[in-house]
Amino acid sequence: MRQIVITKAGGPEVLKIRELKDPIPGDGELTIRVKAIGINFADILARKGMYMDAPKFPCVVGYEVSGIVESIGKNVNENLIGKQVFALTRFGGYSDIVKLRASQIFEKPANINFNQAAAIPVNYLTAYQLLVVMGGLHEDETVLVHNAGGGVGLAALDIVKHIGATAIGTASYVKHVFLLKRGFEHVIDYRTQDWQKLVKSYTDGKGVELAIDPIGGSNSKRTYKVLRSTGRLGLFGISTIAKPGVSGKLHLLKLVLQTSKYHPFNMMNSNKGVFGVNVAHLWNEGKKIRGWMEAIIKGVNEGWIQPHVGKSFKFDNVGDAHTYIEDRRNIGKVVLVIGEW
Ligand SMILES: NC(=O)c1ccc[n+]([C@@H]2O[C@H](COP(=O)([O-])OP(=O)(O)OC[C@H]3O[C@@H](n4cnc5c(N)ncnc54)[C@H](OP(=O)(O)O)[C@@H]3O)[C@@H](O)[C@H]2O)c1
Repeated sequence: MRQIVITKAGGPEVLKIRELKDPIPGDGELTIRVKAIGINFADILARKGMYMDAPKFPCVVGYEVSGIVESIGKNVNENLIGKQVFALTRFGGYSDIVKLRASQIFEKPANINFNQAAAIPVNYLTAYQLLVVMGGLHEDETVLVHNAGGGVGLAALDIVKHIGATAIGTASYVKHVFLLKRGFEHVIDYRTQDWQKLVKSYTDGKGVELAIDPIGGSNSKRTYKVLRSTGRLGLFGISTIAKPGVSGKLHLLKLVLQTSKYHPFNMMNSNKGVFGVNVAHLWNEGKKIRGWMEAIIKGVNEGWIQPHVGKSFKFDNVGDAHTYIEDRRNIGKVVLVIGEW
């Protein structure tokens, strides 16, 4: 098997390919011959040495893959062999073969390809948890989606539209035409425009009922201010940490110290709430995750969930894929593809 290893903290050049013996599935396990791998922002933070959950270097990251079941261990249904599937992996996804518990896989719906299937697990589970499970979004509400052009942003839009709510997005300017066409009511360039003022003006001065923020730092503080009464703020990332050329744990610590504290009295008196989401910390909630995924797969089958893969790269060109995301060029998901299919 071939794997992409992060050899040490650094730029894309620290990503190296290594060859190992193929894994053999044990009791309750199976292996997948991987067709596509979803890249997440967390992988980039891991490569820079800024992702606290990542294994120690040298390590293989990767939270999601799609492919074909190749072999099974004891106590696994043999009908699974040859099935087209996708899976959430707890690291190790940057490989052309992955070994997993059979309970970690989901059958790929026939109406999406392998690239789209690899784009589902992290983005859609996160969006579902933010909007449906914890955000409780209703059809007469407006939601502010930061990083609207990212994988989670577009996944969130599919769900917002299905609920019948209204979405305002923030993203780099080059993505605006695409995002408006896809269904955002308004899109704001948060780096050059006064987005707080615009959000207020788009909501008759009231603000939004729900905001989802993966940027963190002072951005979250400002987002809290554009919530109207009954508004909820879902925090799920700190992409602001990934400044070009900046790395290291000290930087992370500085960001943690800059992050707003939300006082309960303030929340009570302003009728606002704050919650956090990290799907990578839900490994002990397998039943919940399966339930959410069933709803997502139903959405794929019904056609209202349409994973958007903005760009695919060959497995060996993983460094280019990382650079593409860091340069803010991606719209939706970026995947690594293995072989021809
Ligand atoms: N907690 C969770 O469970 C969870 C799950 C998934 C993702 N996340 C987090 O959510 C965020 C978005 O994830 P995603 O997969 O949707 O992202 P993505 O598709 O990789 O999005 C990349 C985009 O992020 C924006 N961005 C914001 N700050 C940036 C920076 N400092 N450097 C480079 N790009 C920056 C850029 O778009 P614009 O310039 O258009 O804004 C860029 O194109 C990440 O922070 C990720 O770690 C958290």
